[in-house]
Amino acid sequence: MSPALPEGEPVPPDGSLPSWVGGGTGGTEPAARGFGVYLHVPFCSVRCGYCDFNTYTASELGGAASQASYASTALREIDLAARVLHDAGLPPRPASTVFVGGGTPTLLPAGDLVRLLDGVRDAWGLAPDTEVTTEANPDSVTPESLAELAAAGFTRVSFGMQSAVPHVLATLERTHDPRRIPDVVRWARDAGLQVSLDLIYGTPGESLDDWRASLEAALATGVDHVSAYALVVEAGTKMAAQVRRGEVALPSEDDQATKYELADELLTAAGLTWYEVSNWARTDADRCRHNLAYWRGDDWWGIGPGAHSYVAATGAEPAATSPEDARVGVRWWNVKHPRRYAALLEAGTSPAAGRELLTRTEGRLEQAMLGVRLREGLDLAVLSPSGRRAVAGLVATGLLDGRAAVAGRAVLTLRGRLLADTVVRAITDE
Ligand SMILES: C[S@@+](CC[C@H](N)C(=O)[O-])C[C@H]1O[C@@H](n2cnc3c(N)ncnc32)[C@H](O)[C@@H]1O
Ligand code: SF4
Repeated sequence: MSPALPEGEPVPPDGSLPSWVGGGTGGTEPAARGFGVYLHVPFCSVRCGYCDFNTYTASELGGAASQASYASTALREIDLAARVLHDAGLPPRPASTVFVGGGTPTLLPAGDLVRLLDGVRDAWGLAPDTEVTTEANPDSVTPESLAELAAAGFTRVSFGMQSAVPHVLATLERTHDPRRIPDVVRWARDAGLQVSLDLIYGTPGESLDDWRASLEAALATGVDHVSAYALVVEAGTKMAAQVRRGEVALPSEDDQATKYELADELLTAAGLTWYEVSNWARTDADRCRHNLAYWRGDDWWGIGPGAHSYVAATGAEPAATSPEDARVGVRWWNVKHPRRYAALLEAGTSPAAGRELLTRTEGRLEQAMLGVRLREGLDLAVLSPSGRRAVAGLVATGLLDGRAAVAGRAVLTLRGRLLADTVVRAITDE
């Protein structure tokens, strides 16, 4: 199971973009905008009970769309992507970031991930300091595989640690031994890779001391980047069914808030600073540039089943009735199933399932939703008049920083970070 794709208008079979995307004037020069490439690897050895990402185990897929042929299939989409951007009249840009996510990318042989990165390099080139990340499960890497990735140009690895506590990992149905975490971090660093650890808090049965132990274990590795996510129990997952049947109990909102505060306290004390609501880094250079570019609204192409892409226009749609209604960018998403994805690409057809043409107003709303979660905050000029009017109330209730608001930016306080969704709703409510 994974979430349904959005509704949208159909995409031409060759994947071509609307003619105004590359043809307009007066928009942001594409050469000045970052260009990220996301590569989705939709395979896992076991599905964790809480996860609703677009990923499949071998038994779910049967013989179809095998892992062995996946890199060749995804390389076809990279070729198609290069052709579509070129034909749209967008000037060529090297990839500024590449992020291989999943699923479990490291379930593929390192050589396949290297082929995918080579494909990106051949299609667009890589900027001199390109950040190249792969996600990895701790039980799917070796010192050799990490060294092979680093030698081929990968610069960063993000491990799904989730917890250091065996009973919490068991509830999450994670397969790795937590004692392996210091080893995999050391192997990655020895290979010259930057390392991030993902943690989850609020798992049923997790005590505050369990969460403290997980944070302390992550920090004991000397890691320079941590992502800490509140567990989300999505409808349709195995864990949602367990909650419904009363087999496991969800934590209260207060428990989640206390755990977030503990994370911020311990991570900050260890020298890591928040730069997005769920992300902390030791220095600016340790932040994940790929995710930052996404949150700031840069262009990206998502390769793989279910992957989403976004490209801003070089100008606005000429036929628009008003500047606010002009479409300023296009977002599209691929078919979800790996078998359908492979079949479309084998037939020489775009794997895109649908797209949305965003107006200037919709673009601003999106920028507000993503930007306000960043420590740098959001330029208040992006907000609608009613969004700007909501700011004073959010400052008064301690959710937005007063001094930053006077300086023209919406920046979350610690309390605001705990209630980020409330803030987003208030500033985007038309
Ligand atoms: C989709 S996973 C991919 C990486 C890798 N397969 C793994 O699990 O470690 C990326 C991260 O998303 C987070 N995640 C996935 N499902 C989640 C959920 N329901 N609630 C909170 N975080 C979740 C986990 O922390 C995970 O490390
Ligand atoms: S390993 Fe990661 S992607 Fe795979 S099922 Fe678990 S959380 Fe989801």
